[in-house]
Amino acid sequence: MTHNLESYFDVKNKVIVLIGATGLLGSRYTDFLSAFGANVVIADIDQAKCDNLAEEVKTKYSVDPLPLQVDVTNEDDILSLFTRVIDKYGKIDVLINNAQIKPEGFYAPFESYSKSTLMKVLDGNLGGVVLSCREACKQFVLQGYGVIINVSSVYGNVGADQRLYDGVENIYFPSERFSSPVSYAVSKAGILNLTRYLASYYREKNIRVNSLTPGGVFDNHDEKFNDQYSARTLLGRMAYYDEYNSAILFLCSDASSYMTGANLVVDGGWTAI
Ligand SMILES: NC(=O)c1ccc[n+]([C@@H]2O[C@H](COP(=O)([O-])OP(=O)(O)OC[C@H]3O[C@@H](n4cnc5c(N)ncnc54)[C@H](O)[C@@H]3O)[C@@H](O)[C@H]2O)c1
Repeated sequence: MTHNLESYFDVKNKVIVLIGATGLLGSRYTDFLSAFGANVVIADIDQAKCDNLAEEVKTKYSVDPLPLQVDVTNEDDILSLFTRVIDKYGKIDVLINNAQIKPEGFYAPFESYSKSTLMKVLDGNLGGVVLSCREACKQFVLQGYGVIINVSSVYGNVGADQRLYDGVENIYFPSERFSSPVSYAVSKAGILNLTRYLASYYREKNIRVNSLTPGGVFDNHDEKFNDQYSARTLLGRMAYYDEYNSAILFLCSDASSYMTGANLVVDGGWTAI
């Protein structure tokens, strides 16, 4: 028997639509998948950032990325994204829903959480994912195969540990007290059952749908926060930026060929206790 690692994890010439491609983790996934020869559709809200990232990977690797502006709260944008992808490549191998939106008031405490902020987050983190899956699946049914990866979070799997945020600086929105908001919890939990729903809906159609649950990545957080977060994990630390790349590659490729409707948890042991 011979075993060929490369064919298991092969993403060369695969068209991977990555929504939320220019952020902290999306830019890492773009670089990593491009390094293995994938043609990444670099989709995010800011066209200039998408263009820059596309130029960067084109100069490093022999790939043909497509930078495309999309606002996941806008249905027309989503329709146009998929039309343009099919126009260029004629196929989609993988859709990765990785965007997250943080409108004003995102970190507000539960008692004063506004309906408007809640609806904006649900619109982006869930509504946009449902619509993107719908458009991708139309193409997957036509071509007879496809893979979806929906990105959740530990806080979509378990309740947020609010004790970690007490007295900690909010590096993302310095004017808002740091906490883990309700909109994030309910939208990221919804992602997990959307994944199961779609895996079941497209059963026996050669369309696999899985979730990835990352834990917290160290991003120059406040030392107190880092210490408190790290103590809650079994590995005793937050993740490094590149520690989800291999999970993404696994889920994109035939290495995960018997996996659907599942949730891959990569969280340093956070949810194990
Ligand atoms: N970073 C972490 O510690 C962590 C932990 C668990 C889960 N996650 C999840 O991983 C994913 C990526 O996280 P990240 O840290 O890279 O986040 P990020 O905020 O750096 O990236 C999110 C991306 O979504 C894009 N975006 C925002 N609004 C958009 C819109 N309306 N339309 C299209 N794109 C839009 C942003 O421009 C950004 O590039 C998210 O879904 C997040 O919930 C992250």
